[in-house]
Amino acid sequence: MAVLEISDLVVGYGSFPVLHGIDFVVEEGEVCVLLGLNGAGKTTTVATIAGLLKPSSGQVLFEGKSLGRKSPSARVKAGISLSPEGRRVFPRMTVGQNLRLGAWSQRRQPRVVKRQTELVLDYFPRLAEREHQLAGTLSGGEQQMLAVGRAVMSSPRLLIIDEASLGLSPTLAKVVWEATARIAADGTTVLMVEQNAGALPFADRALIMEKGTLIHTAVGDDVKNVNLREAYLGV
Ligand SMILES: Nc1ncnc2c1ncn2[C@@H]1O[C@H](COP(=O)(O)OP(=O)(O)OP(=O)(O)O)[C@@H](O)[C@H]1O
Ligand SMILES: [Mg+2]
Repeated sequence: MAVLEISDLVVGYGSFPVLHGIDFVVEEGEVCVLLGLNGAGKTTTVATIAGLLKPSSGQVLFEGKSLGRKSPSARVKAGISLSPEGRRVFPRMTVGQNLRLGAWSQRRQPRVVKRQTELVLDYFPRLAEREHQLAGTLSGGEQQMLAVGRAVMSSPRLLIIDEASLGLSPTLAKVVWEATARIAADGTTVLMVEQNAGALPFADRALIMEKGTLIHTAVGDDVKNVNLREAYLGV
């Protein structure tokens, strides 16, 4: 079943169009990577799915139902969680406090919060060592782990990660992608935005975006195809 189904989505800022009618699906349990260069419209796409931007036309179906005009917090409750571009952790709060805020929609279910915290600290052992450290004093890579972990805290069925690898060393980027693959293997569908084609080996589906249009979709073995990387990203 398609967890996410986007049809003819048109989104812009004021009268400036950015997405010119895009269509794609993400199937249950997949890791889907949305690849494209600076300004392609990747963040615009995921911000619209998370309810932060209103489309001027088109539809976003989550688990077969239209999200309509649902607010961002209602979408979190419905099972969609975004780890935003630029991490946005709360610097003056500890790692543990940041994580608990991610579980705000389930704050009255302490057992669920405890379970998710244990899960996140298992995905990211570095965070376990730093639970009481202020988030602002974490390294860039650790802050990225925290941003992803915080998004996992709401027990999403669709986890969206916007540019996890930005500013990370190749080794740390791999650590984050490997954790993402584990999260997906545990049953969470993942949509990740990347400029870095290094994410391709971790993906089941790749969408290539250029200037607000999807120019190519690859599924299965084609995702690992080197030609695709050369043709669309010039690497
Ligand atoms: N708030 C805004 N107001 C006006 N234009 C915007 C706004 N946010 C983004 N844009 C424009 O929309 C286009 C797509 O931006 P978007 O952030 O979606 O790209 P992106 O693919 O995420 O790029 P990057 O990889 O650099 O994050 C760009 O031309 C950008 O200048
Ligand atoms: Mg972006």
